[in-house]
Amino acid sequence: MVRQVFLPATTLVALLLPTALGSCQWSVLRMNSDSYIESQASGELDPSFLPSSIKYTENDRSLPIKSGLISRPLKLDHTHVIIDQTGCAIHANLIVTSPSNPYVVATHIYYTPRGSTGSALDVSLVDTIVTTTGDYNFNASATLAHFSSEDWSSLSRTKQDTRETLQAAADAYLDLWSNSSAIVPWGAPCARLEGGEYVTGTAGEECAKGLPNGTQPANTNRRYVIDETVGAVSVFSSFGSAGGAPDSHEFRVLDGKVKYVHRITASGSVDV
Ligand SMILES: *[C@@H]1O[C@H](CO)[C@@H](O)[C@H](O)[C@H]1NC(C)=O
Ligand SMILES: *[C@@H]1O[C@H](CO)[C@@H](O)[C@H](O)[C@H]1NC(C)=O
Ligand SMILES: *[C@@H]1O[C@H](CO)[C@@H](O)[C@H](O)[C@H]1NC(C)=O
Repeated sequence: MVRQVFLPATTLVALLLPTALGSCQWSVLRMNSDSYIESQASGELDPSFLPSSIKYTENDRSLPIKSGLISRPLKLDHTHVIIDQTGCAIHANLIVTSPSNPYVVATHIYYTPRGSTGSALDVSLVDTIVTTTGDYNFNASATLAHFSSEDWSSLSRTKQDTRETLQAAADAYLDLWSNSSAIVPWGAPCARLEGGEYVTGTAGEECAKGLPNGTQPANTNRRYVIDETVGAVSVFSSFGSAGGAPDSHEFRVLDGKVKYVHRITASGSVDV
């Protein structure tokens, strides 16, 4: 017979919280991100992607994972991954420069810990944004060249901002479209990679060149993957000024200030 132990609710919450938050191991998330990249490179799904319980959405449309881009082999010229241990998720950015079939892809994968130790994870959702020729400012080789010139290396613990600081900087930027009071904490120098177009500034405000001032529809349905170890935040949203098109904005924030912004919008023929 199982002996039941009753605890006051607050004690229970205190006991559950550390496991709930820290239940996904960093190294296991890293391993799973490798499985994603290997699947995409080979076009052969890693077994972790096979359970029918996995939800797969591509440019906001639900698809069987076997009909998705992930099931087609691609020659990946660049991969970039950030890991969100608290959110038990990863964000991956893939660049394919093949002249006949170029792609720039951003993918969020969300996991559920199996058991309480987080030593094994189950994929629950693959949320991917796929862009190609015809999408907003699309130019895969230019994206690759600019991305590769930037520093996205890990930060020592003392240099790391909190999740709240990182998310607030990203949100302030995405609020520029619909909120005339939004203020972005700009770093200097700073750069924006808008599709394949690069906007740079040596002082903060130069980086804001061409950005809106609150007169556009809002960027809604925001989904976050946050990696404090590199000061990176990836936000997927429905982009208001692009008719709600699937959008990925990834930020690198250093000392609370926005250093890099990368935009990928699956706008198709919609004018943005
Ligand atoms: C893409 O960018 C490269 C520079 O990186 C440029 O040479 C090329 O003409 C661009 N392609 C298009 C289609 O704009
Ligand atoms: C607009 O931005 C300001 C400054 O961040 C903030 O205080 C305010 O709540 C925002 N308004 C809306 C409607 O989000
Ligand atoms: C805000 O942007 C609109 C459209 O680009 C422009 O007409 C307006 O002058 C701008 N307002 C301010 C205060 O900068």
